[in-house]
Amino acid sequence: MCGIVGYVGPREATEVLIEGLRRLEYRGYDSAGVAVMNGSGISVRKAVGRLSALEKELASNAAHGGLGIGHTRWATHGAPSIANSHPHVSYDGKLSVIHNGIIENYRELKNELIAQGVKFASDTDTEVVAHMVAREFKGDLLQALAAVLKRLRGAYALALCHAEQPDRIVATRRGSPLVVGLGDGENFLASDVPALLKYTRRVIYLEEGQIAELTSAGVELFDRELKPVTGKEVLTDLTLDAAEKEGYEHFMLKEIHEQPRALAETIRGRVEGGRVDLGELNLDAESLKGVRRIAIVACGTSLYSGMVGKYLLESFVKLPTETWSASEFRYADPVIDASLLVIAVSQSGETADTLEALRICKQQGARTLAICNVMGSSIPRIVGGTLYTRAGPEIGVASTKAYTTQLAAFVLLAVGIGRMLGSTTQADEARLVAGLEQLPRQVNELLTDDIVAVKRCAKRYKDVFNFMYIGRHYNYPTAMEGALKLKEISYIHAEGYAGGEMKHGPLALVEDTFPTIAIAPHGRTREKMVSNVQEVKARKGVVVMVSTLGDEEARELADYLIEIPKCEEELSPILAIVPLQLLAYYTATQLGRDVDKPRNLAKSVTVE
Ligand code: F6R
Repeated sequence: MCGIVGYVGPREATEVLIEGLRRLEYRGYDSAGVAVMNGSGISVRKAVGRLSALEKELASNAAHGGLGIGHTRWATHGAPSIANSHPHVSYDGKLSVIHNGIIENYRELKNELIAQGVKFASDTDTEVVAHMVAREFKGDLLQALAAVLKRLRGAYALALCHAEQPDRIVATRRGSPLVVGLGDGENFLASDVPALLKYTRRVIYLEEGQIAELTSAGVELFDRELKPVTGKEVLTDLTLDAAEKEGYEHFMLKEIHEQPRALAETIRGRVEGGRVDLGELNLDAESLKGVRRIAIVACGTSLYSGMVGKYLLESFVKLPTETWSASEFRYADPVIDASLLVIAVSQSGETADTLEALRICKQQGARTLAICNVMGSSIPRIVGGTLYTRAGPEIGVASTKAYTTQLAAFVLLAVGIGRMLGSTTQADEARLVAGLEQLPRQVNELLTDDIVAVKRCAKRYKDVFNFMYIGRHYNYPTAMEGALKLKEISYIHAEGYAGGEMKHGPLALVEDTFPTIAIAPHGRTREKMVSNVQEVKARKGVVVMVSTLGDEEARELADYLIEIPKCEEELSPILAIVPLQLLAYYTATQLGRDVDKPRNLAKSVTVE
């Protein structure tokens, strides 16, 4: 939600800022803006809509200078408009600020400022920061910001510059990500590493509450009391290629096709000789002693992988496991104590609700683990251990490779912990390890063999208004995820349902124009799914079936058949979702939708 960048050095700042914002556009794309120190003051340029609108504005109204900050917005407070776009400027015109997050007490602060005679130009929560820091400014931006931070509540990554200290950017974070990029005679700032990769791979992930002061000569870090602290410089292994489309029309399609590699990477070094090795988590029977229950907390697609995770953990660890939408968990009264192991699942590692749910669990004594895709992000930093999905940067707003790698991570976790606790048999472990090793090849096959059938299906049904997705057990979450993919990028209403629940209501929707996608690979619920399909067909419904290669009954029943390779039942969600990702993709592209940046959404939800 919102991307921020900063640059100080010998280059033309706007070029660096636009390059950075392009890499961060997945975080928000309602409007964009830059503020550049021009030698005598600050030049601010803004445009509503995509980054290209800001580029156009800069082409006709350039802003020159070697220090600047830039922002791409996902609107929270105030509609997308020039006034609400960042950077915001203080009442005296000397200070400029960009922000990712929400200042929760902004109303109270705004009222105070209004009472003092400050006039507001926008509806945003951010503008209070501009005015407050300007009022505190007595020649030192660092000190002024530190004083104001004491009064801010909420989540923020902030970057500011001031005309009276035109050689520096001051930035801080709390609850929203911020990375410093280190260069030679130049320094950078961004919400996420891909924005920096064209210039540097040397980065420092700012810790919660740290403040950074960037000049072209160097970067200094401070705690909230302005005591100097040392940051940990790391050399990121992300490459620019990984953040490019590499010939694909969309990031989403590229990321779907990256799944064989992402799965192979996620498994690499973690399975060997028919066994799972989770050494990186430093877990053993002793450290798990006393764990009686597991709770999985996550949002969206990650939540659906958590639903599969629950089934896996209950089968192989044999501990009661609940899956919670993190936004619900926070405001319910779940029983949290030292007997609870909490597993957070997040692609970005920054989702505000998941992060906060984890904090609550930690405060109340639960043990914590995470499955996460982004190294250095907030969630891995606060949990006891992280199993990284090594999917590489996921830029398309619709999650694809993060999901399938999360599922593989859950298999590893369930079997690995199961072995430690003596609840998984060696035969099951060997069976699943062998199955995992087949997956990259099988997904590759799917990506070549299924495309024609899926494209045909997308063409046939792209104009319907509603879709039903049904599945059972391991593939009930596949139905939810398949439906989510379709609705988020094609804007067609789709519902994911447990197959057995159809007759308790939704069957009333079925008629000859209503397509049901039935996920029915072989396994213990296949026959029940076939019965559900019969029920739909008996009411003249149209059925697209996802079934295992060679299922003749499915071939006879289905109006459209999509086949997946034979695999272990527990791994079938990893294969079954792939054609459904493609179905959503081709439906959306045939409808002319903006697949990588669907309306109203953003990739990383750092607001509650
Ligand atoms: C859907 C999607 C979202 C995310 C959700 C959680 O395609 O991407 O539903 O899964 O916002 O995000 P993470 O996994 O980053 O916590």
